Amino acid sequence: MMENIVQVQELTKEYPGLVAVDGLSFAVHRGEVFGFLGPNGAGKSTTIKMLATLLRPTRGTALINGYDIVRQPNQVRQSIGMVFQDPSLDERLTARENLVFHAMLYNVPRREVNRRIAAVLEMVDLADRQDHLVRTFSGGMKRRLEIARGLLHYPAVLFLDEPTVGLDPQTRHRIWQYIHELQRQHSITIFMTTHYMEEAENCQRIAIIDHGRLVALGSPPQLKEQYRASSLDEVFIQLTGREIREETGRPRPGSSPRGHLRRRR
Ligand SMILES: Nc1ncnc2c1ncn2[C@@H]1O[C@H](COP(=O)(O)OP(=O)(O)O)[C@@H](O)[C@H]1O
Ligand SMILES: [Mg+2]
Repeated sequence: MMENIVQVQELTKEYPGLVAVDGLSFAVHRGEVFGFLGPNGAGKSTTIKMLATLLRPTRGTALINGYDIVRQPNQVRQSIGMVFQDPSLDERLTARENLVFHAMLYNVPRREVNRRIAAVLEMVDLADRQDHLVRTFSGGMKRRLEIARGLLHYPAVLFLDEPTVGLDPQTRHRIWQYIHELQRQHSITIFMTTHYMEEAENCQRIAIIDHGRLVALGSPPQLKEQYRASSLDEVFIQLTGREIREETGRPRPGSSPRGHLRRRR
């Protein structure tokens, strides 16, 4: 039987004059790689922050690993790992020190810490750099370290908000290898946002949101069939009237310098 590890119920976030997330309801199955797609400003980050208990919903709620995000935030936090857009590593510490600190925060049993750190560093190919200061790391290495850190307490669900944005194609490919490995070996559920359509093809199922509302949900082949489209890009354009990579801050002639900086992080 399919078990729902994430159950979202009428989740809503209102800001003055704006409904950022508008009555979302859907479920994520245990062990799947679930893609959460939408154009810039659709409400992806707001949704993922509410699910991760960092932001309180205006209405509605969600159950994660059986725990309610509003009423049982501590149990939810123990059930999840997070890799968010804003990097949160301590640059003054080594890779290993960052992981030890996280293990303490999450009460990883003391006798387990060394073994787990070794395992996650191995997985993201950073074992030989563990004693280097994080500030000497490239963007891709930092992202890999954040993924390693997100896994250290063996979360049931790993939330990734645009984990590959701004990375070169090789690093993006590697990160996808880790994601698939995690899923195969540890049956961790992955909930990720992306605006790379080709990455959405790697997900078992995807939800497409626009203006805070769910507009489609299904596996990539199902969605292509349903919308008689030859690609997910086409599905996306039919549903939202625009391309997913519009307005994403990708540097282009005349684009703002801020967008450029955002992408280079
Ligand atoms: N703290 C905030 N106050 C007001 N509006 C916000 C706030 N955070 C996000 N928004 C708005 O909510 C909408 C959804 O934002 P976000 O969830 O970041 O979208 P996405 O991650 O899909 O690009 C956007 O219109 C954004 O400007
Ligand atoms: Mg976002």
